[in-house]
Amino acid sequence: MHDASQASSVKYFAPMDGWTAEKVFSSTVFGFTYDDLILMPGHIDFGIHEVDLRSRLTKNISLNTPVVSSPMDTVTEHKMAIACALMGGIGIIHNNLTIAQQAKEVSRVKRFENGFIMDPSVLGPENTIADLDEIKKVHGHSSVPITSTGKMGGKLIGIVTNRDIDFISDRSIKLSSVMTTDLVTGSEPITLAEANSILRESKKGKLPIVNDASELVALISRNDLVKNKEYPLSSKHTNKQLLVGAAISTRADEEGRAKALIDAGVDVLVVDSSQGDSVFQSDLISRLKSNFPSIEIIGGNVVSGRQAKTLLGVGADGLRIGMGSGSICTTQEVTAVGRAQGTAVYHVSKYAKEHFDVPCIADGGIQNSGHVMKALAMGASTVMVGSMFAGTEETPGQYFFHNAVRVKNYRGMGSLAAMKDSEIARTRTFDDRVSLPMTNFSEGSVCRYFAEHSSVKVAQGVSGAVVDKGSIKALVPHVMQGVRHGMQDLGCRNIPDLHSKLYNGLLTMDVRSGAAQKEGGIHDLIAL
Ligand code: IMP
Repeated sequence: MHDASQASSVKYFAPMDGWTAEKVFSSTVFGFTYDDLILMPGHIDFGIHEVDLRSRLTKNISLNTPVVSSPMDTVTEHKMAIACALMGGIGIIHNNLTIAQQAKEVSRVKRFENGFIMDPSVLGPENTIADLDEIKKVHGHSSVPITSTGKMGGKLIGIVTNRDIDFISDRSIKLSSVMTTDLVTGSEPITLAEANSILRESKKGKLPIVNDASELVALISRNDLVKNKEYPLSSKHTNKQLLVGAAISTRADEEGRAKALIDAGVDVLVVDSSQGDSVFQSDLISRLKSNFPSIEIIGGNVVSGRQAKTLLGVGADGLRIGMGSGSICTTQEVTAVGRAQGTAVYHVSKYAKEHFDVPCIADGGIQNSGHVMKALAMGASTVMVGSMFAGTEETPGQYFFHNAVRVKNYRGMGSLAAMKDSEIARTRTFDDRVSLPMTNFSEGSVCRYFAEHSSVKVAQGVSGAVVDKGSIKALVPHVMQGVRHGMQDLGCRNIPDLHSKLYNGLLTMDVRSGAAQKEGGIHDLIAL
């Protein structure tokens, strides 16, 4: 990298030290993506612990960790959104759900209190030991509260732990005959400190929390206590609740959904559309901005300045960049429309910053920390991930075994399966609209691809499975540490510094040949 005095004179021609982004992205007809590019090292004069990744998601929301989980039905519901916010990012609840279901997902994030398990596995007295075995196999829980209804909110009548069933060979025995009924409980309202001290004194593994009517409202686990989780980076509103976003579609009557989500406490709405430059989206954003002026709205998806102008002109507080870059995406093959992601991120972010000072999300195609680093270096303020988080504990859906490997489903929102489920979701609660013909409306993913009026559904995504990746609570710090190393190598202490070097020409890069890309990956090694 050059020093500031060199920058102005060698802005466009500095092959010895790499090329500026302006040169790379403006002097060729080619579109580049992350793997095509490699960043030039800068001068290091600070420790890695000094790197600060705080960044803007929208005009008025900042995150300590620049990561957003994608509004996909195999990625983000409340569990993912909670974990993401605890790690300093934010999750966007998908909209392949009825309005009531999506609003409930939002309020579950808003009601989250660290240490309280709000949705533990619960069984009823008529369930058998085999049912508990199944829960243990799928979720790993070996202690389960027993309620009258077999669900949260039922009257607490017992608890079954490993010790109650270890030596019983007949697994068809009902839980009512093995459960412990001499219970130590906490009563609502209770603070985490109070609950923890009851757990400590009782020496029990789990503490069920009940309300005045003895109904189960939460569970506290000794294991969690011992792990003593602290989340110093967590994304919180001033009222201490975790931040959460939710997706809405561009349907004409989507304001009802937006209102329900706002009432549930959502912090940011993401208009989920594969091609953001539509009159449907710009009208919707205008209406939402005038009816709900304090809600932050992210528009998208866009890949060009022209598209960005439409959405920024009607007041979008953030933009989502990407068309055809997602790992499960077939948009570019099916429609021949889209853009290479590096080029899209550079041009849209630059336009949005220069003309509206609005931050952008690089959405799709992120596979590793290097891609996150490159997205930020191209001008994005945050990245949105689907596949990187797919297969983690926090995603919706169950693990299953495929060829002896533990996997979970991951699918595009434009896959036939997701579009079909979006129509099923519609039929569940839209009582006020059931008289309308089926093709007049539907939830989330059908609308994302403007396919709600179409009798022939063309997939723009695929579905498959991804291997078990554990928890994002281990994954995110690992990825972010990689990004911090990248920032340090570049000589950038924080993202505003990175972006000012991007635009003043002090950040430089090369385009890599195919052979150079191969050289930059693992090679000449026998896998063991
Ligand atoms: P990934 O992180 O590379 O897996 O990409 C995730 C992104 O792909 C999402 O945030 C969406 O923008 C996009 N996406 C989701 N579903 C589809 C689809 O079915 N077709 C095209 N793009 C999709």
